Amino acid sequence: MAEDGSRRRVRAGEGDAGPILTSAEVEAFREEVRDVYREYGRDLPWRRTRDPYAVLVSEVMLQQTQVPRVERKWPDFMSAFPDVRALAAAPLSEVLKVWRGMGYDRRAVHLKRMAETVVAEHGGELPRTLEGLLALPGVGPATAGAVAAFAYGEPHPYVETNIRAVYLHRFFGDRCDVPDRELMSLVEATLDRDDPREWYYALMDYGAHLKRTTPNPCRRSAHHAPQAPLAGSRRQARARLLRAVLDEPGGTTERYAALAGVAAGDAEELLGRLRDEGFLAAEDGRWAVA
Ligand code: ADE
Repeated sequence: MAEDGSRRRVRAGEGDAGPILTSAEVEAFREEVRDVYREYGRDLPWRRTRDPYAVLVSEVMLQQTQVPRVERKWPDFMSAFPDVRALAAAPLSEVLKVWRGMGYDRRAVHLKRMAETVVAEHGGELPRTLEGLLALPGVGPATAGAVAAFAYGEPHPYVETNIRAVYLHRFFGDRCDVPDRELMSLVEATLDRDDPREWYYALMDYGAHLKRTTPNPCRRSAHHAPQAPLAGSRRQARARLLRAVLDEPGGTTERYAALAGVAAGDAEELLGRLRDEGFLAAEDGRWAVA
């Protein structure tokens, strides 16, 4: 790189085909992102805190649930379990009740295990380092990167769905098969290390804006295959069974199969999986939340 940085070039993509950024191009991209953010930036409740636990809860919720629903649920969850110790001490059945309506309940179990680990191994304080965050149950690179940026103001490159949308739209045209590894070199090259918090908010809001306004965009990466309908119906059956046990604990497999409208054989298999994953426990053929 030249001393003044002006000839810094970043190669991304395979061979010579990928985009190459000069520092001027990096600046132009940042300006564009910030312009969109000034116009379409969102004021979201979890952006008003730097409490790493509160940020982590919001990020886990946002992994698979739309923003408007998280806007309703995150305050309820924070009132019910205001800190790591409260969540660690709460019965799983209470956590799942508050989680109701979010879907993908496994995330609630992970959050509770995360809280237990933080209390048992970190004195009730979330780790400060990326490695420490990544070692927590249910915390992957995107969640750890987000907590580092939003709670600690530390710049680590990561991608999630909205960020991915921006880089695919802006740098990869029609390509649908871009692996995150290729996006990451651009994320790293353009990251605002002085203010990663605002930068990532801006990227996410630009991505959300693109999703709202760009018709039929081709921005799916190789990491994001659509979910099969069959998997969806099994997921629903599983969620209904779990709800039934939460609402009416102590019943038999047949009872929950009837309550959830699931065939008895499927109910047996799905309840068994919920037990193996730590959601449920069975005693003498009767089910309850673990
Ligand atoms: N603000 C902070 N984190 C976010 C996320 N994951 N999605 C949307 N907005 C956010």
